[in-house]
Amino acid sequence: MKFADLRTILRYVPQFQGRTFIVVLDGGVIASDNLSNVLLDLAALRSLGIRVVLIFDASPQVQALAKARRVKPTSTGGEGPTDKETLEITIDAVGRTANRLVQQLTVLGVRTAAAANMLTVRKAGILGGVDQQLTGRVQAVDTASLQTLLSENILPVVAPLGYDRKGQTLALDADWIAAEVGIALRVPKLIYVAGPGQLPFPDGPSSQYSVRTLREELARRADMAPGARIKLRCAMRACEEGVARVHIVPGLQDEAILAELFSTEGIGTMVHVDAYETLRPAALGDLERMVQLSRRAVEEGQLLPRSREEILDRLDDYCVVEMDHNLVGMVAVHLYPEDGCAEVACLHVRPTHIGRGYGRAMMRWVEDRAKSAGIFHLFGYTTQASDYFIDRCGFEETSDSSWVPKERLEKAIRSARNSRLVQKHLDPEQGER
Ligand SMILES: CC(C)(COP(=O)(O)OP(=O)(O)OC[C@H]1O[C@@H](n2cnc3c(N)ncnc32)[C@H](O)[C@@H]1OP(=O)(O)O)[C@@H](O)C(=O)NCCC(=O)NCCS
Repeated sequence: MKFADLRTILRYVPQFQGRTFIVVLDGGVIASDNLSNVLLDLAALRSLGIRVVLIFDASPQVQALAKARRVKPTSTGGEGPTDKETLEITIDAVGRTANRLVQQLTVLGVRTAAAANMLTVRKAGILGGVDQQLTGRVQAVDTASLQTLLSENILPVVAPLGYDRKGQTLALDADWIAAEVGIALRVPKLIYVAGPGQLPFPDGPSSQYSVRTLREELARRADMAPGARIKLRCAMRACEEGVARVHIVPGLQDEAILAELFSTEGIGTMVHVDAYETLRPAALGDLERMVQLSRRAVEEGQLLPRSREEILDRLDDYCVVEMDHNLVGMVAVHLYPEDGCAEVACLHVRPTHIGRGYGRAMMRWVEDRAKSAGIFHLFGYTTQASDYFIDRCGFEETSDSSWVPKERLEKAIRSARNSRLVQKHLDPEQGER
């Protein structure tokens, strides 16, 4: 490594320090000569103050053990049905694999703990008419216990096995476990260290996909290897539910994790949600859900109460964020062309979805809307989000309200909420983004 590499890495440290990353090791990587390099990368992440949860797959190890015992496994990695005999082999193979990982991490000075029963699982049941037998699905994640280990500087190792309420062991798919744990812990990064045949775009250069473009790409690529396709599906689910970025890196390549995380170009595939892509104009069918969405913010004094009728009257001014058929955000921009200004109003993100960029994406929409109407002066009345407008969105507070449209000013005075007035002059040169 050159000094320049070290400097590049150190630039990222303040951003990553104290955050939790999930790393998923494919069984093919564990079986390869590159394992020691990958584990060294994990030790390096830890020494930079990054918390790591390690989740591993053991499909090739299950296959190898089954072959040695002359058994034909019904499934190897928690995908497809798992019969009793396959489960016994899986338990043995997973145990040996965990032992190997913990042993090697110990040599590197990393303290680990088996996070054996930190997942609540249930039987997958019958899928597509096929009984999945002893294959499980993750129902809930014990985030408190995982956080306790992480705060003690311990690296939790999560195996692809879980126990249902009756104590029955079930085989799980490591890729799906990672997505669920990532969502539950709301991690900024989930990294799949992919083995042979698991890279979605093996011949292409490093690439970045928003969930929407990836969905289109997946529909076009019917020939993609099943292992790679599952990783992309998990990545899309994780991103849609709050994981900021998912990376799929070539696990047989030396320093793959470090090269992906600590360079702007990266070397793998990165998936993210483009919050702007999740916006759409509000429609009549959204009305009831918009009223419900804003209710709590109104109760807490963050938003001015608006009746169904008031929203309906100006429905064209609103846009919403919809995820998985749920409204999670809304905003309005009211234009006052005669006064040469526009108001941002009713900006709200569901508490479960804050901090994922939806607020800023909606503000971009508001600005684009105002600009395309030829208006470059934006204002807002706010009680609890003035810092957000000022620090995150480039507004400034003003005590001069002489230019505020008369009807709006009177409404603000009548409401007696003592709101702060913030304003922003938009750059006409920038045009629509
Ligand atoms: C304000 C609000 C819309 C922000 O939405 P969001 O989707 O969480 O915002 P983003 O993801 O774009 O930005 C998140 C960042 O803003 C910061 N932030 C969020 N709300 C803030 C507030 N009220 N004051 C100061 N900073 C705030 C977060 O700390 C986060 O910082 P980070 O990027 O350093 O982690 C949302 O918190 C909300 O709905 N609040 C309640 C309703 C409200 O007050 N609306 C304003 C009516 S005028």
